[in-house]
Amino acid sequence: MRLLVTGGAGFIGSNFCRKILREERDYRVVVLDLLTYCGNLDNFTQKEWENPNFLFVKGDIRDREKVEGLMRTVDQVVHFAAETHIDRSIQNSDPFVSTDVVGTQVLLEAIRKYPVERFIHISTSEVYGSAVSIPMSEDHPLNAQSPYAATKVGADRLAYSFYFTYRLPIVILRPFNNYGPNQYPEKLIPLFVTNAMENRPLPVYGDGKNTRDWIYVEDCCEAVLSALKEDVKQVQGEVINIGTGKEVNVRTITDTVLKRLHKGKSLRKFVKDRPGHVQRLISDTKKAKEILNFSAKTEFSKGILKTIDWYVKNKKWWNDIKEGRKEYREFYERWYKER
Ligand SMILES: NC(=O)c1ccc[n+]([C@@H]2O[C@H](COP(=O)([O-])OP(=O)(O)OC[C@H]3O[C@@H](n4cnc5c(N)ncnc54)[C@H](O)[C@@H]3O)[C@@H](O)[C@H]2O)c1
Repeated sequence: MRLLVTGGAGFIGSNFCRKILREERDYRVVVLDLLTYCGNLDNFTQKEWENPNFLFVKGDIRDREKVEGLMRTVDQVVHFAAETHIDRSIQNSDPFVSTDVVGTQVLLEAIRKYPVERFIHISTSEVYGSAVSIPMSEDHPLNAQSPYAATKVGADRLAYSFYFTYRLPIVILRPFNNYGPNQYPEKLIPLFVTNAMENRPLPVYGDGKNTRDWIYVEDCCEAVLSALKEDVKQVQGEVINIGTGKEVNVRTITDTVLKRLHKGKSLRKFVKDRPGHVQRLISDTKKAKEILNFSAKTEFSKGILKTIDWYVKNKKWWNDIKEGRKEYREFYERWYKER
């Protein structure tokens, strides 16, 4: 099976590539990634680079020619590539509309021309906005609250329309909040862990009582793999939440991080909330169980410790970003100065 993974050099994409190359010997994986500020070749280990079934292609999902050239050579697609940081989308929505919506459209048009066995579109729980009913099923209204979320709704519904209009074999997964190794350190958990290690404040939005359904990245990748392997007739045209069904608030995360790293609560700094901040997200997990036979295995209390330990052991990985990349520093300084 020849698989195209867009955005494979990012957080979830790289964890997914590692898993599939390790577990599925009959897969050949081609990554298409633009290496934006958060794409990182260091997310792949020597093992992946040496694997004859792994190929990395630098390129833009908005580049029709490049996308078509690749599409005619593959059987399946998992589409992770996106601009993903909500805070950045509040500062400037341009790259979000362009990559998340237009980029997805380019990929969808390419599969009309060069059909594939299936196309897995990675959407997000952010499309729902704050929960109006609990747990949130796939029928929950789509009340996107940030420009990021709105562009992901656009991509999600565009993907669905290509299933409905052209009967293309498209599957839409809506993961809840992922955490784990290789997450860009501007995102909440790696930001808190690495700031605590550097004795810098942990900026908690508002009162820190917002909750999310946190899923360990390896579990999310397991669900994506199930969506690739399930009988296509069972999954095409479906929208499936990928979550744990449990919620954890930001205060709990902050305290867990500080305790694990033997740091005092004085590092906790409550800052002005971000506009449009979602209060609560919690997944209904029934459909994933029924269709994919998927349930998340990792309890948050274990996954968070594994994650903290990974950042402790891999200081060079995140230090190269925090100290070496101006895109990180410039954004961080500007964003948190306003808070
Ligand atoms: N991280 C989460 O908690 C989470 C939760 C739900 C859904 N998602 C979705 O999962 C997907 C992956 O998220 P992530 O956290 O791994 O993101 P990430 O920001 O870590 O990685 C995104 C990757 O996409 C690449 N990319 C960006 N623009 C591109 C373009 N125009 N062409 C080609 N490549 C491009 C980047 O270089 C990067 O490697 C996204 O679609 C995101 O919306 C993420």
